[in-house]
Amino acid sequence: MSIKKSVVLFSGKGSNLKNLLENSTNIKDKLMYKAAFTNNPQAGGIDVCHKFSLDVRVCDDVNVNSELSEFLKEYDPDLIILAGYMKIIPPEIVNQYVGKIMNIHPSLLPKYPGLNTYSKILANNDTYAGATVHFVTCNLDQGPVILQGKYAVPDDSDESSLQTLTHNAEHIIYPIAVKWFANDIIRMEGEKLLLDEKLIESPIVLLIEQSSV
Ligand code: GRF
Repeated sequence: MSIKKSVVLFSGKGSNLKNLLENSTNIKDKLMYKAAFTNNPQAGGIDVCHKFSLDVRVCDDVNVNSELSEFLKEYDPDLIILAGYMKIIPPEIVNQYVGKIMNIHPSLLPKYPGLNTYSKILANNDTYAGATVHFVTCNLDQGPVILQGKYAVPDDSDESSLQTLTHNAEHIIYPIAVKWFANDIIRMEGEKLLLDEKLIESPIVLLIEQSSV
């Protein structure tokens, strides 16, 4: 069977990108990271690409969607991984890659789509928080959930400590989701997730102990 081609889109620090690349060796017969794309010439993730010798396309924010289209045509990926990509991908691109785009979001979706998730968790005194990997559809942060990492919110939390705990959860669940995709264990059908060809009605949740941080 042919090896799946994957590209990663990012806008910031790139800790998820780095973590995925570090976890790539155990799936190298199934999936290869071919290139990365960013809309931010200052993104820390660019250094990560250089460190891992991964081709990276850095584009200016003005022409981002036409450049992204060209990039995707060139690499023809089987999987597009959004790892902190802060641009909304327009429907004409999303529709060309249905079931082939994954995103990670720093909340337990459907709670808190969009931005400022940590302040919302604190404002609502939530007992649990976490991160979600999902397939991308044209509806922002609403595609079928693949996997969630959930942790208990400590009493003395602030935005910074929640970010640390959430990143930890992200770094655990994203490689698992990518591995499932690489091994054809999951796929999106319509607006649903199939795992081993079985319809998943409610999200699969991994409970993460604080001691794993
Ligand atoms: C992550 O928290 C992710 O959930 C969100 O953006 C952040 C990216 O972090 N979409 P990094 O650049 O991977 O460190």
